[in-house]
Amino acid sequence: MTLSKCVTIYSLKGNTSAILDEFNLDGFDVCKMLKEDPREHWQNHDFIMIGSATYYKEGVTPPTPPYYFQKYEQDLLQLENKEIVLFGSGKKEYPIFCGALDYLYGVLKDKNDIKLVYKVDQIPRKHQKIEFRDLVEEIINGR
Ligand SMILES: Cc1cc2nc3c(=O)[nH]c(=O)nc-3n(C[C@H](O)[C@H](O)[C@H](O)COP(=O)(O)O)c2cc1C
Repeated sequence: MTLSKCVTIYSLKGNTSAILDEFNLDGFDVCKMLKEDPREHWQNHDFIMIGSATYYKEGVTPPTPPYYFQKYEQDLLQLENKEIVLFGSGKKEYPIFCGALDYLYGVLKDKNDIKLVYKVDQIPRKHQKIEFRDLVEEIINGR
């Protein structure tokens, strides 16, 4: 049976989206969280990639969700038996680098299989885009 796959992306300035530049999205259901609610995509697919930038307000850190995941927290906690890849861009100068990914890992790890957490400092370089593509392809092809 074909693996049902989706990628949902939260990226304000495009750095997180750019991690996918070398990635072949054929066969993936794609959801941009700025335009669309991701919940149905998460529920309907077995292999879920969540790309998220980190925008924490000062003094707020994981395990508190970043504000843009707050309304989805219950839905995230209910997901189970999914294979999950987390990726995103942050900035190393902040106290918690890519904290949104730490948050997502925390709420998803107990009931799902987290295959990869891929963090990038600001704008992804070409070699990182290729590395990310190859790592995910390996995960999918090795199933
Ligand atoms: C108000 C604000 C708060 C931020 N907080 C964090 C943070 O806590 N941790 C982090 O790694 N990056 C933080 N960043 C940096 C962004 O995550 C980074 O610029 C990232 O590349 C943006 O990705 P995007 O282009 O996909 O939106 C913050 C940026 C802003 C403007």
